[in-house]
Amino acid sequence: MADGPLKVAVVGCGNIGNRHAAGYLATGSTELVGVADVIKERADGYAEKYRSRAYGSAEELLAEQQPDLVSVPTPPGTHAEIALQALAAGASVLLEKPPVLSLAELDALAEAEAESDGKVYVIFQHRHGSGAQRAHRLLSGGELGTPRVAVCETLWFRPRSYFDPDWRGTWVGEGGGPTLGHGIHQIDLLLHLLGPWKTLTATAVRLDRPVQFEDVSLATVIFENGAVGTVINSLLSPNELSRIRIDTDGGSLEVDHLYGYSDADWSFHPAPDAARAATFGLNPGERDADASAAEAEWNPWTASAGEDAPSNHQAQISRLVDDLLAGRTHETTLASTRPTMEFVSALYASSLNGGPVDRAELVPGHPFYAALNGGVDQADIDKAMIIG
Ligand SMILES: NC(=O)c1ccc[n+]([C@@H]2O[C@H](COP(=O)([O-])OP(=O)(O)OC[C@H]3O[C@@H](n4cnc5c(N)ncnc54)[C@H](O)[C@@H]3O)[C@@H](O)[C@H]2O)c1
Repeated sequence: MADGPLKVAVVGCGNIGNRHAAGYLATGSTELVGVADVIKERADGYAEKYRSRAYGSAEELLAEQQPDLVSVPTPPGTHAEIALQALAAGASVLLEKPPVLSLAELDALAEAEAESDGKVYVIFQHRHGSGAQRAHRLLSGGELGTPRVAVCETLWFRPRSYFDPDWRGTWVGEGGGPTLGHGIHQIDLLLHLLGPWKTLTATAVRLDRPVQFEDVSLATVIFENGAVGTVINSLLSPNELSRIRIDTDGGSLEVDHLYGYSDADWSFHPAPDAARAATFGLNPGERDADASAAEAEWNPWTASAGEDAPSNHQAQISRLVDDLLAGRTHETTLASTRPTMEFVSALYASSLNGGPVDRAELVPGHPFYAALNGGVDQADIDKAMIIG
């Protein structure tokens, strides 16, 4: 990678593109060499706002500029094609979530990545706040105990008008419902914390919204480490929340937020441990003010508190830029997000075909490897997803 500043570009000058452009500028170690949008006026607006050059497409931008890194905050159905163009030009890519619309697309990108000087990274900003980094470190090191039970909830609300833009609500443009487009943040964080899943059984239903896929999905999951969990994704839940809870044999770890957390949104409640508590003169069944001070000494979560870094685009983008300038691997690679895309693919496979799906099944030749709707006729999808 170049000796700084890192040359970056943004393709897709809509809503979330702002977080990319502003995120790069805030690092102080990038140069925004170009911005592009198929609606050229949007690129012009970005160019003025973020002091860059405007282009009407990724091709035009890549023909004139040689960015080190290209952000792709465009509709999900366009990610793979733009990423392939950037890789062919030797640039690295930062894809918005969901990175691609199928495992087949993911593997095609991985092949192109192997042939390119560039690498593909994915925005999953909730891996990058201090809470997730601490949880990952403590769970991997066994300091929070053995995971047993997990609950993962994305209960969000999107009115019918949310689906007005042409690309939303369709398999081709948006790619899927709350499983792929919204719950994927929590699903990715859950898998990042617990490790890969093994088997899942799911139901996806369309209760109200004008879409080709689900507006609510539910899954039960068995993880490779032996833990079990439930995952729910909804766009029909007015009092919105995003929550992950992991019960280990050492305690309950929980993050309860909405679109981003800070350290205050995380907690760990140690399991009652009579012998340990007694050494601090505490009764494990009773909590009082003195207890909390003493507990901080033996609660591995409170004892490991450090600087609070909220989870947002800025958190991941500044880590990515630092990693690239230092020649380090940024952890949210295409490969590391594969289990998340496998989970989403399996959820649709299980809900449309019935029965459990093993992660190992999702190889070329499996219909849900090629497409998240499994190539099933839309009329049959409607029949399967609409209750009654
Ligand atoms: N990480 C997050 O928290 C988060 C939140 C919301 C959305 N997103 C993701 O960000 C992406 C964009 O979402 P948005 O809400 O900003 O959409 P948007 O519609 O506001 O913006 C997308 C922009 O891309 C442009 N575009 C479309 N096709 C293009 C192409 N081929 N080349 C260049 N430009 C093209 C459109 O004209 C539009 O300006 C999606 O992948 C979405 O899932 C991520």
